[in-house]
Amino acid sequence: MRRVAENQPMQQLEEWDDFVATRYRQGKSEEEFRNYEADANPGVTQFYRENHAKQTYDFVLQKKAEYCGLTRGKKSVWEMAEYLNTLVDESDPDTDLTQIEHLLQTAEAIRKDGHPRWFILAGFVHDLGKVLCLYGEPQWAVVGDTFPVGCAYSQEIVFPEFFSANPDSKAARFQTKYGVYEPNCGLDNVHLSFGHDEYIYQVTKPYLPEEALYMLRYHSFYPAHKHGAYRHLMNAHDEQMFEWVRKFNPYDLYSKGRERPNTKEILPFYNDLIAEYFPAQIDW
Ligand SMILES: [Fe+2]
Ligand SMILES: [Fe+2]
Repeated sequence: MRRVAENQPMQQLEEWDDFVATRYRQGKSEEEFRNYEADANPGVTQFYRENHAKQTYDFVLQKKAEYCGLTRGKKSVWEMAEYLNTLVDESDPDTDLTQIEHLLQTAEAIRKDGHPRWFILAGFVHDLGKVLCLYGEPQWAVVGDTFPVGCAYSQEIVFPEFFSANPDSKAARFQTKYGVYEPNCGLDNVHLSFGHDEYIYQVTKPYLPEEALYMLRYHSFYPAHKHGAYRHLMNAHDEQMFEWVRKFNPYDLYSKGRERPNTKEILPFYNDLIAEYFPAQIDW
């Protein structure tokens, strides 16, 4: 007899993005937002259960040591985008966008609004860090809202009750307001739960302007950029730069439903744009 898995995982990474988009549907009130549990399917709920239980302070340090040295070889930005594109949704190929289409759609929406070239480029690369999945990382270590580890969990994080299963929740030194950090020490000194944001930030750090790097590094940090949590760890510079993170968010969140990008037609523009900021190959 085949054993039925009691813990149903998300079918695909997009389920998390879809859930976030539903949570922050335009015009939704704060009260409606509080009802997010109703919007989450069992796979998504199970995903957060694991994410909140397993993203410990030690886990984050370990994953940073593993990936932030960028020792996984050189590839061009396009090669990585094509590699990421091998992550396909087999259940519904007609309605769902490929990974490259999501990147192009985000970037094209930014371009249409007349934003600077580096902003468009940030749109194109923002989810390339999801290749972590192809390196074998589980979903809960790649996507999901990010949050600081090593200090008290904010109630503004979705499903805060799931943190009771995290061993850090029993460690006194991690459970004060500031935990292992100093007041307003700046987010660069704070470890967030590990995922695709941190990885793409590390990869692109030598090449993109700081505003773009903030967008990449903190685009999933919803507790802060949507709910204003963790300001006690941010410094004045973070506050300033978060204006850009907030400017970026709608393009990521509401890119779905926009028209499918005509990849062939816009390809030359993106080839030029990538070549303007990146060398032929970069470290991953
Ligand atoms: Fe993302
Ligand atoms: Fe995205």
